[in-house]
Amino acid sequence: MSLDVIREFSLDHWDPFPGEIPKSGLEAILESGKVLFFPHLRFNFAGDESRFLSEQWSDGKAKNISFRGHDVPLQGAQGSAADIAQLKALVARFSGNAESLVRGLFPHYQGHLRRGFTSYRTASVEGRETSWRKDDTRLHVDSFPSNPTGGLRLLRVFSNVNPSGLPRVWRVGEPFADHAARFFPRASRPLPGSAWVLEKLGITKSRRTGYDHYMGQLHDLGKADFTYQQTSPQLNFEFPAGSSWVVFSDQVLHAVMAGQFMLEQTFYLEPEHLANPASGPLDFLEGLAGRSLKI
Ligand code: SIN
Ligand code: FE
Repeated sequence: MSLDVIREFSLDHWDPFPGEIPKSGLEAILESGKVLFFPHLRFNFAGDESRFLSEQWSDGKAKNISFRGHDVPLQGAQGSAADIAQLKALVARFSGNAESLVRGLFPHYQGHLRRGFTSYRTASVEGRETSWRKDDTRLHVDSFPSNPTGGLRLLRVFSNVNPSGLPRVWRVGEPFADHAARFFPRASRPLPGSAWVLEKLGITKSRRTGYDHYMGQLHDLGKADFTYQQTSPQLNFEFPAGSSWVVFSDQVLHAVMAGQFMLEQTFYLEPEHLANPASGPLDFLEGLAGRSLKI
């Protein structure tokens, strides 16, 4: 079965104006689980910034270098204070570009997208040792155990900045509704009181809802199922160096197979501000559960 999930656009700058966006709007396309792909949207490293295209700036402990705001130290990086300041400015510039991109692309979300962390991924995907649960070479939708969202949407902007022309190779999987229908029957029920305990122990940063529980179950059951990984409907797609793409990563099944050097910006969006508020994972899961999953 072939999947039709990539939508390509010719945009080549980070500040799209209304005339460059299809009149019918891009929000509905994104919300239907497509990947918006911009083959000519390049993030440029200026002047001597190209020296940051090296693994040497990673502190070797964190997977990514993470920008969390101008007033907060850059996380996961090592180097002299001057180098770190320049690297931080670079990642911050990408963050600003990603913000102006989504502002231009998605007028319906105007004023409602909240900027999350920005990550700079210097490590090569191939040969990375990790536990199966953290293994992003397995198809999954994003759901992070320590960071429950309660149904907030995760919108991500990715840019492949590889200097040697290496693509970022992804697999994109079946529609969320099919994925959820497949694994929901195998999911455990949330334990009464467990959300309160996890929050009080500081294991979760906020209260884990029924939604977070089931998203975690889909994430884990899907990643642990070898046959599913191998045989479920999926598409291999190479994002070339110098390209960018935008996706709801809590909805689109994805896995990364190869690549090195990528920037990524996360945005959060309340589901009520979607063009179609019923299009997100929360509504699908509530339909399967037959109850509200907001608690
Ligand atoms: C992921 O979000 O699962 C990984 C994406 C990537 O590193 O390309
Ligand atoms: Fe992911």
